[in-house]
Amino acid sequence: MKKRVLSGTQPSGSLHIGNYFGMIKRMIEYQDSSDLFCFIVNLHSLTTLHDASRLRKLTLEAAMDFLALGLDPKKCCFWAQSDVPEVTELMWILSCVTPMGLLERAHGYKDKLAKGIAASNGLFSYPILMAADILINQAQVIPVGKDQKQHVEIARDIAIKFNNTFGETFVIPEAEIIEEVAVIPGIDGQKMSKSYKNLIPIFGDPKVIKKAVMGIITDSKGVDEPKEAKGNTIYELYKLFATRDETDQMAEDFKKGGMGYGDAKKKLLEKITEHFAPFQEKRAYYEAHPKEVEAILKEGGDKVRPILTETMNKVREATGLNY
Ligand code: ADP
Ligand code: TRP
Repeated sequence: MKKRVLSGTQPSGSLHIGNYFGMIKRMIEYQDSSDLFCFIVNLHSLTTLHDASRLRKLTLEAAMDFLALGLDPKKCCFWAQSDVPEVTELMWILSCVTPMGLLERAHGYKDKLAKGIAASNGLFSYPILMAADILINQAQVIPVGKDQKQHVEIARDIAIKFNNTFGETFVIPEAEIIEEVAVIPGIDGQKMSKSYKNLIPIFGDPKVIKKAVMGIITDSKGVDEPKEAKGNTIYELYKLFATRDETDQMAEDFKKGGMGYGDAKKKLLEKITEHFAPFQEKRAYYEAHPKEVEAILKEGGDKVRPILTETMNKVREATGLNY
């Protein structure tokens, strides 16, 4: 039997190359070999985004990005989280078996508070909604970047606790994190993230992409000075796009001196542009046809609902909510 694979992204800003290598690319590759579930988690975005027209726009744009990059809705379930509200019912039920300590240890919450995001119950309970997403779909494999590792572990802990309390109900999920793409650096060398304003977008104005790449922070070594490739953001990003020979060549050019950071950035920009060029036309098509994207998400919601309903029937039986 094919493995059930699930992952999603928040529609809270431009999808970037960290999302692409950390999750999206793998999800698209999985559509031929697994039972794939991919969704746009707009309920999660409500924890930080309180602007209705922006949330609507970003939800469709995130879907456009996935479709343009090759996600085929016929080969998977592809939907918007809010179209299947049963997940919020499961969230409540799970919250009643989730120990407070489990949530208090979650670093996602602490990180968000440190960034100045207002503390809310939604922000604190975020991992329970994510657990509900995973468990309601009975997903086995969760492809994510390293930042989501703890969230998937919380989902596992909640599933085990529920099964021990009410009897075998949920599949125990597992995060799939690939070391080489676990933490893609942003232009300031920190993890690339929508919320750190250090991202290189996948789609969008070429001038914005160029500005981001040319703005990668480096040390101040001159053109002729030898430079260390490893740990250098330009090189680390170049490695994702280039062949092994090209990557070795860049490392050598850095080492022997004579290649400035400006030249290396131009090489990286060329690679990024070349890599995403084949997807631009499809992205422009969806941009011009948002109603089609909306219909794809709605159909995806209808396709996934029976699977979620089956899990919810089991949950209601196990907990005694089906009086
Ligand atoms: P962001 O941090 O930009 O808000 P999300 O939290 O929406 O990104 O992440 C969507 C997916 O992309 C998750 O699986 C996450 O682990 C992955 N991801 C995000 N940023 C990176 C990164 N810099 N490196 C690797 N994976 C990432
Ligand atoms: N929290 C994830 C992120 O910010 C998004 C997410 C919500 C998710 N529910 C999920 C990812 C279920 C995988 C599975 O990236």
